[in-house]
Amino acid sequence: MRSFTVGTTTVRVAGCGTDLNEAIAAAIAQRAKDAVAEHGTFSIALSGGSTPRAVYELLAAMDCPWDKIQFFFGDERCVPSDHQESNFLMAREALFSRASIPEANIHRVKTELGATTAAAEYEAAIRAAIPATKGGTPRIDLVLLGMGPDGHTASLFPETEALEENRRLVVGNFVSKLSADRITFTYPLLNAARAVWFLTAGKEKAAMVGNILLGDPAGLRYPAQGVAPTAGELVWWIDEDAAARLG
Ligand code: 6PG
Repeated sequence: MRSFTVGTTTVRVAGCGTDLNEAIAAAIAQRAKDAVAEHGTFSIALSGGSTPRAVYELLAAMDCPWDKIQFFFGDERCVPSDHQESNFLMAREALFSRASIPEANIHRVKTELGATTAAAEYEAAIRAAIPATKGGTPRIDLVLLGMGPDGHTASLFPETEALEENRRLVVGNFVSKLSADRITFTYPLLNAARAVWFLTAGKEKAAMVGNILLGDPAGLRYPAQGVAPTAGELVWWIDEDAAARLG
């Protein structure tokens, strides 16, 4: 593992996917223990997609204060929770079913309500579960995010309405390129977090990782660049393939 900074962003590069997954899982477990020791609880927003599955499986086997951890989702597909596309289903298979986590600590997005209502209900659940900062925004201890090759993160996709949301914390977001509704954290909630960790691997992500961290040569901006915690840590956990443009 090698670490360096790009501006105020910490970049941690592991040799391969397995090393990366093991390093991230261990770091999450340690962060959970530190948070519980410091303020009695640990709140984490899980990322969806395929990259984090192996991390969650490794984390499930680690020593964590499970009963003190509150689990949320940074975004969700608007599908039933037993649908193959569901981020909740992936987390249940990879983590919740393998560790002794109280059901009450798992905050599922109620996609059966439809995107708009589910988003409003989820925001209320987050506000009820997580203490707010002075500014009134809940401060999640750790938000895990992925990044798509188009620079999207959570379900903040290029040219979608949710990118402009600066008041609500969770919104429904229609993604025309997918012809699908999503539910997603917005920048106000993401940027209030104590820590945001991107988990990105693979050569197909290298070009966009370079654009996000070093700037796009054409001057374009991407949704993942809008994630900049106001008073929190920003870390990119990547493998050497995804780091190809960083040197
Ligand atoms: C989702 C996500 C999304 C994901 C990226 C990367 O629900 O799909 O949360 O933002 O993290 O698309 O996905 P992969 O890990 O599958 O490349």
